[in-house]
Amino acid sequence: MLNHEKYYSKLGASFKPSILTTVVLGAFEMAKQGKKLISFTGGSYDVPSLPITEIKKIYEDASDQDWADMLQYGATSGMGTLRSELSKFMAEAGIKANPSNEIIVTTGSQEAIDLVTRVFIDKGDTIIVGSPTYLAALSCFKQVNPKFVDVSIDVNGMNTVILEKKLKQMKAKGMKPKLLYLIPSFQNPDSSMMTIERRKHTLELIDEYDLIVLEDNPYGYICFEGNMPTPLAGMDNSDRIMYTSTFSKIVSPGMRIGWITANNEFISKMIEAKTNISICNDGLSQYAAYELLKRGTVAKQIPKMIKVYRKKRDLMLETMESYFPKKAKWDEPKGGLFLWVKFPNQFNTDEALNNAIQKGVSYIPGSLFFTKPIHNFMRLNYSLPSEQEIIEGIQILGRCLKEMV
Ligand SMILES: Cc1ncc(COP(=O)(O)O)c(C=O)c1O
Repeated sequence: MLNHEKYYSKLGASFKPSILTTVVLGAFEMAKQGKKLISFTGGSYDVPSLPITEIKKIYEDASDQDWADMLQYGATSGMGTLRSELSKFMAEAGIKANPSNEIIVTTGSQEAIDLVTRVFIDKGDTIIVGSPTYLAALSCFKQVNPKFVDVSIDVNGMNTVILEKKLKQMKAKGMKPKLLYLIPSFQNPDSSMMTIERRKHTLELIDEYDLIVLEDNPYGYICFEGNMPTPLAGMDNSDRIMYTSTFSKIVSPGMRIGWITANNEFISKMIEAKTNISICNDGLSQYAAYELLKRGTVAKQIPKMIKVYRKKRDLMLETMESYFPKKAKWDEPKGGLFLWVKFPNQFNTDEALNNAIQKGVSYIPGSLFFTKPIHNFMRLNYSLPSEQEIIEGIQILGRCLKEMV
């Protein structure tokens, strides 16, 4: 029998099954027993809203030359035509990006996070993150063993007064943080929105403390009231902001179309890093993404998804109001795909998960979104489950929680 363990690198050995594996295995077990599991876990797309007809039509219309381009290797930075459309798409949000040398098409924005990690972070470097923040960004950063400094998030996004205080403290100790990772618009997991004042304050601080920023904006377009606020990247001229966004929440996560924009120097480095990972993105997806932007399908899809998700959010909130224990607290998300629920300190949502799965419903325990041991939160997704599943699942979860809290 091979001793598998002895072959792993330090990084390989560090990959351990997480609570997410419990969710996946739980779902598998339930399916084996012929039982249904209602999932409030990932940030998946509403299935009936996927632009299937539009994408089929795009491929039907493609010429032989288009097919040859799709099936050939392409530029590491992505199809030129798609980069031009992305540049126009970002311009509508106030972000200027030269399509020829300031954009890379990435395999989702997850790859953009990975590129930034590879190009900018060494072991022991300090990354400033929100508390809480996106779990897969934390696990991506953790691959290179950085130090984390966390700054609390409230309904108005990262608290920049605390950020400033922590930056001062670090300076006094001779510590020089490298990167600030931010999700200013409808932050994952708590759906908070950073105010304009805090955005401005952040820009002042990054200049004063010589920081670079990764602004991650998958959810800003799913805005239930008014328009998406201008991203930091659209307010800044300092070259310090790298900005990533994605098709995953507005068009399709399976296409794996994301992108990153930054100054030309940073982009050149990230292109070299991407070559080692994937050479270039998938041509079929890139072609469809280009046509979806050019034909105006993306522009139509965004308001459609806002309507669908607003309705699901309202239904989840209404059902929670009736079925969740009174000690559970939450804010109404003004956009994005998640509800973030707080329980009394002593309640542990990691421990409650198995019981919930047994009863037929899953969620993500909040502990995965913190760099410190905090266990009394839960993230609920409303974009994937059907309206019927939202009602049924929240009733089940509510009963489960009332027994435990
Ligand atoms: C904050 C945030 N960033 C990045 C991603 C990665 O998305 P994708 O790689 O599908 O574009 C997600 C996915 O849920 C996310 O929530």
